[in-house]
Amino acid sequence: MILDPTPFHARRERVLAHLQAHGGGVAIIPTAPERERNNGTTYAYRPDSYFWYLTGFREPEAVLVLVAGDSPRHLLFCRAKNAEQEIWTGYRCGPALAAERFVFDEAWTIDELEQRLPELLADEPALWTGIGIDPAWDKRIVAALKATRTLARTGNAGSTSAPATLHDITGVLDEMRLIKDDSELALMRRAAQITAAAHCQAMRTTRPGRHEYEIEAELLHHFRAAGSQYVAYPSIVASGANACVLHYVDNDCRMNDGELLLIDAGCELDGYAADITRTFPVNGRFSGPQRDLYQIVLAANHAARGAIRPGASWNAPHDAAVAVLARGFVDLGLLQGSVDGVIESDSYRRFYMHRTGHWLGMDVHDVGQYKLKGEWRPFVPGMTLTVEPGCYIRPADDVPEAFWNIGIRVEDDALVTADGCEYLTGGVPREIDGIEDLMRS
Ligand code: GLY
Ligand code: MN
Ligand code: MN
Repeated sequence: MILDPTPFHARRERVLAHLQAHGGGVAIIPTAPERERNNGTTYAYRPDSYFWYLTGFREPEAVLVLVAGDSPRHLLFCRAKNAEQEIWTGYRCGPALAAERFVFDEAWTIDELEQRLPELLADEPALWTGIGIDPAWDKRIVAALKATRTLARTGNAGSTSAPATLHDITGVLDEMRLIKDDSELALMRRAAQITAAAHCQAMRTTRPGRHEYEIEAELLHHFRAAGSQYVAYPSIVASGANACVLHYVDNDCRMNDGELLLIDAGCELDGYAADITRTFPVNGRFSGPQRDLYQIVLAANHAARGAIRPGASWNAPHDAAVAVLARGFVDLGLLQGSVDGVIESDSYRRFYMHRTGHWLGMDVHDVGQYKLKGEWRPFVPGMTLTVEPGCYIRPADDVPEAFWNIGIRVEDDALVTADGCEYLTGGVPREIDGIEDLMRS
């Protein structure tokens, strides 16, 4: 499926404007390589996020080139049409159609890249690319620079020179990607809706005696049936003590009466991730201790959400969540001393050891700096992030037994708006009554 090429073209124009404002040059951005899984089978192909963000083009073996200067040019290298190969591995757009559909000034086959790069780089002041991400790409860039110098020495043009400056372009692209445009937000809303509906389905179909993988299958079925191409990350379906393993992905245990089930799962739709966690009782009713802890995590989620608004610090939601959790841990007898002491000494980290969120976008842990010049950066409308406080209580002599092996996280996806924040993940309940009602329905 091909999306409207307009926003992708507009993003390339912004990159060109940046180059222009910083001395000009040529930007070169490759897509991801295909990766072998084992013995002739490959992992599901997923384009590189930077390349996808700027092109909308999903085939492997493709490179974007943007030439700044008096007559800026958008160029694409992609696989040639190949009737024989297309029988085996499917449709290839080919350069001619790709140029038309994806709005490039010119497109060539990927086989021509090596030969054309020196010509494109000759006499340009700078080369902009992602440096230090993929060693194979770094090598190709060095080879292209060398070939451009050779061209300068031996070429007919006589006066040609290679770019004198090599810039890492990822910082520029990261800042662009951090603020989502309307077409990105439409995809993120849809990814969040699909994911929320999948979590509702998981709540409806969970019961004692079923296995974690059966619920994972419910999620995957729902994601794919709604048109999402991939999971945004491996799904965590963790019952009982498994919920205290932050990155548990085995999902192979039987779910028992009296346990909680923590599900952290999200789909990826047309390149954009959702990332939702809900925690609910396998039998449909929270026990007393589960309820007590859940209310604290939920209150931390509300507090974090309330701290997100333009101008507020990136760290404000984390501080707000920690304040609520620390107070809750002290009130329940999980930690001793004053709330301030628990925060200052970091002792709350025994039960809450991760941060309260991350940027969200094409990558589930999306690009973008969290600090600027050493200070937490302020929120700006159009940023998207997760809000995901939790608590994880392992058995210990100094911990009341009623709380042993309880792991809870409540994770939502937030958009910074003009005057606050909006949750994109309202389609799945997070309040206790809402969860219990849905599980009974
Ligand atoms: N699911 C990954 C995360 O929450 O960061
Ligand atoms: Mn997350
Ligand atoms: Mn998550």
